[in-house]
Amino acid sequence: MPVPIPALSGQAKRTQVRRIFASIAPRYDLVNRLMSFGQDRAWRRLAVASLGCDPGSLVLDLGTGTGEMILELRRSRCRAIGLDLSLRMLERGKAKAGSAGTFVCGDALQLPFAAGSFDGLVSAFVLRNLEDVGLALTEMRRVLKRGGRLAILEIIWPDGRLMRPLFAFYFGRVVPLLGAALTGDPVAYRYLPASVRAFMRAGELAQAVAEAGFAETHWRPLALGSVLLLTATAREARGMPPLEG
Ligand SMILES: C[S@@+](CC[C@H](N)C(=O)[O-])C[C@H]1O[C@@H](n2cnc3c(N)ncnc32)[C@H](O)[C@@H]1O
Repeated sequence: MPVPIPALSGQAKRTQVRRIFASIAPRYDLVNRLMSFGQDRAWRRLAVASLGCDPGSLVLDLGTGTGEMILELRRSRCRAIGLDLSLRMLERGKAKAGSAGTFVCGDALQLPFAAGSFDGLVSAFVLRNLEDVGLALTEMRRVLKRGGRLAILEIIWPDGRLMRPLFAFYFGRVVPLLGAALTGDPVAYRYLPASVRAFMRAGELAQAVAEAGFAETHWRPLALGSVLLLTATAREARGMPPLEG
């Protein structure tokens, strides 16, 4: 019987996202390393560098998962807080990177931080898992200081005529088999390509970031256009609450 693809919207999505990350937490890093051909750490390093934060800056890693980004932030001598909804992912993060930052259980749609708390915010491969991307971006801006820097990494369905079928084969066929074999969870790695396919394209995400009150929005494709690194700066904007800090 074919494995069903999990829900891609609403409360059902949130429940499934929680279940999926609890289930794959022990093998998450291994699958990432293999399916990205060892490139995922380099992408996170680029994201941290693109924040341009001074040593000692306070940076939030939103959807920190197993804390890989916290390790990169420490390398750049930033003070890091990692937030995630999944206790199982956080446990792995704390075990691996507990001395490099602080780990907090919380929701990207309702951040447990005062306005203007952070100099920078980084979020890798999280947005397409959320029920409301616009609300998450508004929350990101709220907790950043005026001029605070944002860096987002996300997997994007590539547009190129050559890359599109290659990606569809690799991501739609090979990765689900690899993920299922390594984690024992066939649903999780069918959800992955389905969530990427359903997510925004690069230009749409850049527009959503600008509409949430960010300026200087730039994005660059990585991995032949299948990964996006988007950076922006929190700004005062008409119709948006004033920034603090
Ligand atoms: C694909 S993982 C990315 C983990 C990490 N950022 C990385 O670079 O490997 C997505 C993470 O987002 C978290 N997540 C999903 N929905 C969330 C929410 N509403 N609030 C906070 N974290 C959430 C998941 O629990 C998971 O750890």
